[in-house]
Amino acid sequence: MWTRTVTTFRMTGRAKTASGGETPENEMAFFESILVTGGAGFIGSNFVRHIAGTHPDCRITVLDALTYAGNMENIADLVDNGRIRFIKGNICDAETARDAMVGAEAVFNFAAETHVDRSIEEAGSFIQTDVYGTYTLLTLARERGVRRFVQISTDEVYGSTEGEGFTETSPLKPGNPYSASKCGGDLMCQAFANTYQVPVVVTRSSNNYGPYQHVEKFIPLFVTNAMEGRDLPLYGDGMHQRDWLHVEDNCRGIETVAVAGEVGAVYNIAAGHSQPNLRVAELIVEHIGETSSKIVFIEDRKGHDRMYKLDAARARTLGWEPRVSFEDGMKKTIEWYQKNRAWWERVKSGAFREYYQKHYGERLEKGRPKGHPGKS
Ligand code: NAD
Ligand code: DAU
Repeated sequence: MWTRTVTTFRMTGRAKTASGGETPENEMAFFESILVTGGAGFIGSNFVRHIAGTHPDCRITVLDALTYAGNMENIADLVDNGRIRFIKGNICDAETARDAMVGAEAVFNFAAETHVDRSIEEAGSFIQTDVYGTYTLLTLARERGVRRFVQISTDEVYGSTEGEGFTETSPLKPGNPYSASKCGGDLMCQAFANTYQVPVVVTRSSNNYGPYQHVEKFIPLFVTNAMEGRDLPLYGDGMHQRDWLHVEDNCRGIETVAVAGEVGAVYNIAAGHSQPNLRVAELIVEHIGETSSKIVFIEDRKGHDRMYKLDAARARTLGWEPRVSFEDGMKKTIEWYQKNRAWWERVKSGAFREYYQKHYGERLEKGRPKGHPGKS
C-alpha cells in the first residue's frame, strides 16, 4: 500500500485550498498517488511529465487504451525508468479501471476521443469513451472514495461565440458530435458531485498546442506538412479563431484546479491568444522558412464553430496564470517538431496515411491556393 506523503509545488500567487482556507504563499499540498487516464496522449503525457518532474514523491499510474491517438513513445522513458506505472486498458472496462484506481487519491481523466473531424464521420466511439467511460470512472471513484476526480473537459462545450468570452455559467451549446459527447461526460461529473458527493472538479480549456500533439490536429499537421513540402489544407475562409494555450500552461492550470479548486466547480483555462487560423498558418510558414508547400483553402468542416473564446478569471483567482506567450510557445513547438522528426514520421505513417488521403485527397485537389483569384 502506498503511504501518505505531502509534496509541495510553487505557484505565483496565493491560493485557496479545497476546504476554503488560504495556503502559505507559493505552497500547496499535492496528492501522494494519482491515476491519469489517457496519459499516453498529447495533454495527458505532458501532464504526467509535469507531475513526475515537479512532485518526485507522487506515485503515478497511467491507464490508456492506446487507441490510434495513444503513443507509448510519449512516456516510454518514464515507464522504462520506473517513474510511472503503465496499464493498457479501456476506461469503459470497469474491472481494469478498478485495478488501476487502487491506491489512487486523485483521478485525472484525460482519456477521450478528441478529433472533431473524426466525430463528424463516426460518433459512436466518442459517446462510448467520452460519456460512458467517464461514467464508469465516476462510479469507481465513488466506490473507492477518492479525494478528487478531475475531469478534463473543453471550451467546445459552449459552442461558437460571436465575440464575448464565455464564463463557467454560460449556456452549453455544443456544435459537433465531439463536443456533445464531452458535454455528456462533463455533466455526468457534475451530476455525480451533486447526487453522490463525488469530489469532482472540471477544467474546460481552450485549444492546446505543444510537444507530442498528434499530427491530425491543426498546428502539428501544418508544421509537419510544411517541413515535408506538402500543402497546408485550410478549412473554409481560414478566418475561424481558436484561443491557443501552451500545453505547459494547461498542465499547471489542471494541477492548480485539482488542489485548490472548489469541489463541484468548473474552471475555464485559457490564455487569451485568439488568432484566425490563416494567421497561424502564415506564422508557421514564416517560421519553417523555405518550403514548397502552400496554404490551400479547402471545403469547410461541417458545422465548423467560428470562434472559441474563454473568460478564465475564475482560474486566476486560484493563483494560476499563463506564462508562455503565443510567439515563444509557437517557436518552441516548431523547434520540437524539427528536432523530433522520427517521432512524427512514425505517427504520420501507416493508418494515418490512409486517413489523410481519404479526408484531404479530393478536397485538396479541388482547393484554391491562398492568393489565387479563381473560385474553388
Ligand atoms: P489525445 O487524442 O491526444 O489523447 C487521448 C488519449 O486517450 C490517447 O492516449 C488515447 O489512447 C486515450 N484513450 C482514448 N480512448 C480511451 C479509452 N476508451 N480508454 C482509455 N484510454 C483511451 O487527446 P488530447 O488532445 O491529449 O486531449 C486530452 C483531453 O483533453 C481530452 O479529454 C480532450 O477532450 C481534452 N481537451 C483537449 C484539448 C486540446 O486542445 N487538445 C483542449 C481542451 C480539452
Ligand atoms: O477547443 C478545444 C478543442 O480543440 C479540443 O477539445 C479538441 O479535442 C481539439 O481537437 C481541438 O479542436 P479543434 O477542432 O479546435 O482543433 P483542430 O486542431 O482540429 O482545428 C483547429 C482549427 O483549425 C479549426 O478551426 C479547424 C482548422 N483546421 C483544422 C485542421 C485539422 C483546418 O483549417 N485544417 C485542418 O486540416
